[in-house]
This record gives sequence, C-alpha cells and structure tokens, in this order.
Amino acid sequence: MDVAVVGCGYVGLVTATCLAAIGHSVRGIEKDARKLAALQDGQCPIFEPGLADLMREHYASGSLQFTGQIKEALRDVEVVFLAVGTPPGPDGAVDMSYLNAASQEVCDALAELSPQYMVTLVVKSTVPAGTNRRIAACLRDLKQACVQVVSNPEFLREGSAVQDFLEPDRIVIGGESPEAFRIMRRLYDPIIKREENFLTMNWESAELTKYAANAMLAARISFMNEMTILCESYGADIEDIRKAIGTDFRIGPAFLRAGCGYGGSCFPKDVAALAHISRAIGYESLFVNAIQTVNRNQKLRFARKIVEKLGRPIEGATIAIWGLAFKADTDDIRESPAIDVIRYLLEKGAHLRATDPKAMENMRQIFRDQVQWVADPVSAAAGADAVALLTDWPQYSTLPFRKIAATMNQPIIFDGRNCLHRDVMRENGFVYYPMGRPALESPLRLRQKA
Ligand code: UGA
Repeated sequence: MDVAVVGCGYVGLVTATCLAAIGHSVRGIEKDARKLAALQDGQCPIFEPGLADLMREHYASGSLQFTGQIKEALRDVEVVFLAVGTPPGPDGAVDMSYLNAASQEVCDALAELSPQYMVTLVVKSTVPAGTNRRIAACLRDLKQACVQVVSNPEFLREGSAVQDFLEPDRIVIGGESPEAFRIMRRLYDPIIKREENFLTMNWESAELTKYAANAMLAARISFMNEMTILCESYGADIEDIRKAIGTDFRIGPAFLRAGCGYGGSCFPKDVAALAHISRAIGYESLFVNAIQTVNRNQKLRFARKIVEKLGRPIEGATIAIWGLAFKADTDDIRESPAIDVIRYLLEKGAHLRATDPKAMENMRQIFRDQVQWVADPVSAAAGADAVALLTDWPQYSTLPFRKIAATMNQPIIFDGRNCLHRDVMRENGFVYYPMGRPALESPLRLRQKA
C-alpha cells in the first residue's frame, strides 16, 4: 500500500521504516531541514538498535523515501500516519499544537489534491480522549476529499522499538468505520499472528488504552519501589519478592524491577496527562497521583541515601555517576532519574564525575561544566568517595571491581538499579547499598585514605 508518515521523529521513523520492511511503499515527511537532510543522506538521526540498517536497506531499495513536501508526499496515498510529538505542558496538559498543525496541513494538501478515493488518516501520536473524534468532525467539512480517521496508539519501547513494531503483542485500532478497520487490518496483515491480537474499538477507548497501558506499567514499578522502603526497614529482599510474585500468572513477571525511579519520555508524560484528563472532568485521581508521588520520592530517596550513608560530609565529596540515560540501550535522558540525583548532589556541594556509554553528550547540555565528564566507569570511580549507579547498562556488572575498589577513596557503591552482584561486591571489599535489598555494610573494610 502507499503510505505517508507525517513526522520522522522517534515514533514516525520507526513506523515508516517498519512499514517499508513489511512491504509497503512509504514516504516519510519531515519539516526540520537538518533532520531531513540527514535522512535523505541515508543517516539515521536516532540511536535505536536495528533501525539504522533497516532504514538504509529500504531507503536504498526506494520503498522508503523522505521529503519535506507534504502535498507531493500525499499524492496517491491510501493511508497517512500522523506521528508528531504531543509533549507535556507544565501542568501535565498535552500540547496539541504540533498535531493540530499537522492535521491541518494534511487536510489542506488533500483538499488541493482532491483524491478520487478514500484516504485513511491514522493518529499514532498519544492524544487525550476525544481528539480523534474532534479531528474526524473537522474532516467532515472537507468537501474535496473523502477522509476517515482512526486512532492507532503505539506501544514501542526505546531500545526494542523495531522488534516491538514487527512482533506486536496487540494492534489497537480506534474508529467508527468498518471500512477503516478493514484497511488497517490489510496494512498490518504481515505482522498479525493471531486475529484476537488485532483489536478494534471506538476512538476514545483506543486513546485511553495507551494511557492506561503506560500508567499500569508505571504503577507496577511505583508499587515495587514503595515496597523497597519496607524491605530496607524489615530486612527483606525486593528481588526475592519480585521473583515470588512474578510467578503468579495473574501478576506476571514484567515491569516489577525496583530501582531509583522510572524515567523516559513516555511514562512520566502519560501518567501526568492521565492525571490532567481526570482533573478535566472534575475527578482528582488518587491512584494516578500516587504513582507520580512515589516515583518522585524514590529518586530523592536514592539521592538522600548517598548523603546519609557516605560516612563523610557530602560537601566536597567526589561521587562517580555511572549511567545517565533513563534506561540502558538508549542515549535518551528525558526525565532520567540521573537528572534529579545529579541536581540534588550538586546542591549539597558534591563533586561529580559522570559517565555513560551513549548519553553523555545529551546530559552535558544540561549540566555543562558543573560535572566532570569521564569516558569510562573505571576512570570515573578512581579517587571517588562513592559510586552511584543509575542506569542498568549490562556492561556495568562485569567491570574489574577489584581494580575499581583499589583506586577509589572509599569503596562504596549505591546501586540504583540492583544490577550488580552482591557476592562480587563482597569479594571485592565494597560497601554496597542496593534498593530494597540487604546492604553490605562492613565499615572495617573501608580504606579511608588520608
Ligand atoms: C514505554 C512503554 O514500555 C512502551 O510500551 C510505550 O510504547 C512507550 O513507553 C511509549 O509510550 O512510547 P519506554 O519509555 O521506551 O517505553 O521504556 P520502558 O522500557 O518502558 O522503561 C521506562 C522506565 O521504567 C525506565 O526508566 C526503566 O528503567 C523503568 N523500569 C522499567 C523500571 O524501573 N522497572 C521495570 O521493571 C521496568
């Protein structure tokens, strides 16, 4: 099918590339001149495993094209995806300006082209309930073209977005027209493994499904994070509890890992938006508010623990920060717990030496010369009074810990992601503070250098 994707940001580019990969002829439309130039040069502007190769392959074959000309791109298309950002406002409200502008441009272009057949407009962006119905109502006035609207929320995780797209747990389509559902069924046919995973519903249900999914996942994390407080007080181990409750098929094992809080461009934004759209109907959601409060507290609790357990005044202490990205396998730092922790420690007067395999440049834009940027975790830890581990990069669990302990001023590690091995910490003489797990506190082993 001939498909256009408006917006070649994270969601748009993954969508465009994967649709080309399953056999469609796709035109990606990008307004940002620099990004467009990069795309037309065959460069992938974001770091996402597997995306660059797939993009280059289909760009080279011609099944994926990029343009800045919306009218040219919409000529003869059957399906148009809107994949522009819907960023959060300060009060959690969703900023709809990009989406409104993009849908207007699509309508204007289609009105000029006046296609002879039905065009399906697919809203991929995460939007508040009621948005698709509003867009559909506006389009009804469009006399020159026949356009139907569907909502198709995305469930892509950064780091595994290509796989999530090509092997989806479910595809959700919201709309009113059986014809639109049939077109979307045909579009996604190559990746629909079981009919029951292709779910059709009304617009509002599809829109709220997206928020409900992210809020449910964030709730599981916040619940486990709150449990770490009890674990630390009663001497329980959150990892044992995670495994034990995760085997209950009614609970399941996913998204139960406790840590120093969730981040990213999705959970914080969508949970805040859900609180906001509840407020808009006069309902203050106790539950959704609690998810956010627990997350904020958990980031702070981690930072405070460093100050409390450091064994020396934080002012003037050197802390190595391992990991800046909001999770492993990405350079994305949006809402990363590392931002809050760094800010807190800087306010307390600590010297920070930070490192990350991918996200250092992005974090440098925020903290500039307030932090010392170090190429690798071993160098960052040398001479430090403690390490604060904030991202679950797998390579951090296999570092040369004996060497690291020997070069630190005091061998203390605060593991905000529970990703180091307790036995390795003990064998190498570390004082070790995980989240919600028994700490290894052996002050006798502390080597206090002059
Ligand atoms: C999330 C959802 O998982 C996707 O399904 C959704 O499509 C996407 O948001 C979106 O709305 O676009 P993403 O933000 O890429 O994806 O990252 P996740 O893997 O969900 O992780 C989010 C945060 O939760 C990270 O900070 C991660 O470290 C944290 N997390 C995750 C935990 O603290 N514990 C866990 O058990 C899992």
